[in-house]
Amino acid sequence: MAAVDALIIARMQSDVPVIPLLAEHLVSAGGKRLRPLLTVAAARAIGATGEIEGPKKLAASVEFIHTATLLHDDIVDGSEMRRGKVAAHLIWGAASSVLVGDFLFARAFELMVETDSLRALGILATASSVIAEGEVLQLTRAHDLNLDQDTYLQIIRAKTAELFAAAAESGAVGAGATEEQVKALRDYGMALGIAFQLADDALDYGSDTATLGKNAGDDFNEGKATLPLLLAVQRTKGKEDLFWDRVITKGERTPEDFARARELILGTGAVEATLDAAGDYADRAKAALSVLAASDWRSGLEGLADLAVS
Ligand code: IPE
Ligand code: IPE
Ligand code: MG
Ligand code: MG
Repeated sequence: MAAVDALIIARMQSDVPVIPLLAEHLVSAGGKRLRPLLTVAAARAIGATGEIEGPKKLAASVEFIHTATLLHDDIVDGSEMRRGKVAAHLIWGAASSVLVGDFLFARAFELMVETDSLRALGILATASSVIAEGEVLQLTRAHDLNLDQDTYLQIIRAKTAELFAAAAESGAVGAGATEEQVKALRDYGMALGIAFQLADDALDYGSDTATLGKNAGDDFNEGKATLPLLLAVQRTKGKEDLFWDRVITKGERTPEDFARARELILGTGAVEATLDAAGDYADRAKAALSVLAASDWRSGLEGLADLAVS
């Protein structure tokens, strides 16, 4: 991972001044590097040893794609904090943020081409279009209290889980895995990604800004129809319809409304139920790994599934 990080720093450079400055703001703020870790660990879990140049480049590509989506996502979501720092678009403006996102996204593809793996390139290219579809679908269904859980799942699978799946799958492909191993790691990544986004959606109501490094309540303030909200709406039917209609459907919110929503969401057990669902997907993720030979890497990936929920 230190080598992957060095590659990320080297490849985000440019002679155009605002590019490294803005990229550095986000990259050096940390981030868990969960997705590139999946790429490297997938390669190791199928028994790859030595330098694994291909998977390392793919890992850096995956983090660049992720970083680009964060830059774009914070503009779309109107989020003011990311990784414990002021969001880039509030410092350099939305235009610079969009364009540097595009630059990092393009750099990701340059790195992929260097691996000479047309298959890995295909996996990450598909993931990229699916992520964009997920974000657009979510945008068109925001403020929709009648969003069904299947569509919600379709959104989080596309916007988040697809990149987790592609990260693990491309690492396996880049390390020469068998088809059975590739499928296992893709399935693992997909289930893990769903668990991860469910937990993220729970934390938006169940945690606080200091812990998250991004503002709690962003989803509410945007009227985003996430599972904790949808469950609370169902569970307070006939009692709180007017409240939900005003704050989500009509988007008429006062500063006190978040506290009320949070109380209802926590009070109805909607956060717990969301985390339970995340736990189920984490179990599915672990189960997918059973075809791999036992190793420290496989155990590590299993542990990661539990960590994503806890
Ligand atoms: C944030 O992902 C976007 C979501 C899918 C919820 P992470 O929580 O992995 O972000 P960093 O990279 O660790 O900051
Ligand atoms: C992340 O979803 C989706 C991306 C593809 C970036 P969120 O909008 O929930 O992520 P955060 O909470 O802003 O990190
Ligand atoms: Mg967001
Ligand atoms: Mg979120």
